[in-house]
Amino acid sequence: MSVSQEIVGYKSTLKNLEYAVDKNIPVLLIGETGVGKTSLIRHLSQKHEKTFRRINLNGQTTIDEFVGKTLLNKEGTYWQDGVLTEAMRNGWWLLLDEINAALPEVLMVLHSLLDDDRFIVLSEKDGEVVLPHKDFRVFATMNPSGRYAGAKDLNKALFSRFAMVLSLDFPSSSQELDIIKHYAPKCSKQNREKLVKMARQMRTSYKKGEMEMVVSTRDLINCAKMSMDMPIRRAVDIAIINRASEEDVKSVETLVSLYFGKGSTFKSKDKKMQEFLATVTRLAEEASVFSHNITKEMIQVQQEVSLIKTGLVSTGIKSTTVNGLDSKIKSLAVYSDGFEKQVDKHKDNIYAIMPKKK
Ligand SMILES: Nc1ncnc2c1ncn2[C@@H]1O[C@H](COP(=O)(O)OP(=O)(O)OP(=O)(O)O)[C@@H](O)[C@H]1O
Ligand SMILES: [Mg+2]
Repeated sequence: MSVSQEIVGYKSTLKNLEYAVDKNIPVLLIGETGVGKTSLIRHLSQKHEKTFRRINLNGQTTIDEFVGKTLLNKEGTYWQDGVLTEAMRNGWWLLLDEINAALPEVLMVLHSLLDDDRFIVLSEKDGEVVLPHKDFRVFATMNPSGRYAGAKDLNKALFSRFAMVLSLDFPSSSQELDIIKHYAPKCSKQNREKLVKMARQMRTSYKKGEMEMVVSTRDLINCAKMSMDMPIRRAVDIAIINRASEEDVKSVETLVSLYFGKGSTFKSKDKKMQEFLATVTRLAEEASVFSHNITKEMIQVQQEVSLIKTGLVSTGIKSTTVNGLDSKIKSLAVYSDGFEKQVDKHKDNIYAIMPKKK
């Protein structure tokens, strides 16, 4: 289903993770967005030939989705396992994203899961006890709460249940250059170096509290990849400036101009389009819980919408892509109640600026 996940660097982190897997120790990974938390676990699960599942525990994930629920059909009621229960029974590897944002009832389940005896009780299913398959492994991630503050955000009792805590910082410049080269080997060395230098400067501003936005390795990879099809400055518009908040956009643009020159066609104040992109991004998060493929599709949709927005329509977008966009959005809508309505609200704005079908 997913492509093989390579990891550049992170030798000692990988060694620690291997140890944790061997000893069945739950691991908490702390690091900013895009530093490679998910990639590391996905990589290891592939190496060990284990099924990998991920669930985002942000405040919207209910105990039903996590543990399971009773459903109704013609024959009567039946039980449907949630993500955790399914993973425990089948010996899958489960990554719990944003564990610090989990709802209280989800936290309660995590507490018993992470205790030494490692079982959970399905109170709604007559108190059935679920014991983990021997191959089941659990990992969790969170972003650092506040700058440099470590895990103070996470409930103490839960934090103490992770026998291994690994903090991941942004990669070093040389490591980041290698990562970008790995994903976008055709991007020029000069552009790769500029991207990395620019990111370092933005991260310094972020750490000083001068900027809200964090540029991730993921953003740089996206820029480098897109720079194969368009001028690098436009790629940076799409992958970085477009995501800056109203407060940040000026300083981000200034910094970008320093490295890549002034932009031209970019319209950062297109509010309706930004709203649409935000909706798409949110759905991508939700959908990623269900399938890795779907997320990839959503990212594609996001990129296509960005391309349209920045005026690349005539050269960059094929009419088949435009037709495909609608059905992709529709197929994703099933994963989120009410999403379709939200999409409909914004869709007119998109079609208004799309190229006419040929
Ligand atoms: N050390 C690395 N080696 C290879 N690829 C990396 C590395 N670090 C980051 N990447 C790449 O950067 C992108 C983002 O990584 P990933 O999704 O693993 O980050 P994350 O820490 O899980 O972010 P988030 O907090 O947003 O979930 C991916 O495309 C990933 O392949
Ligand atoms: Mg992740």
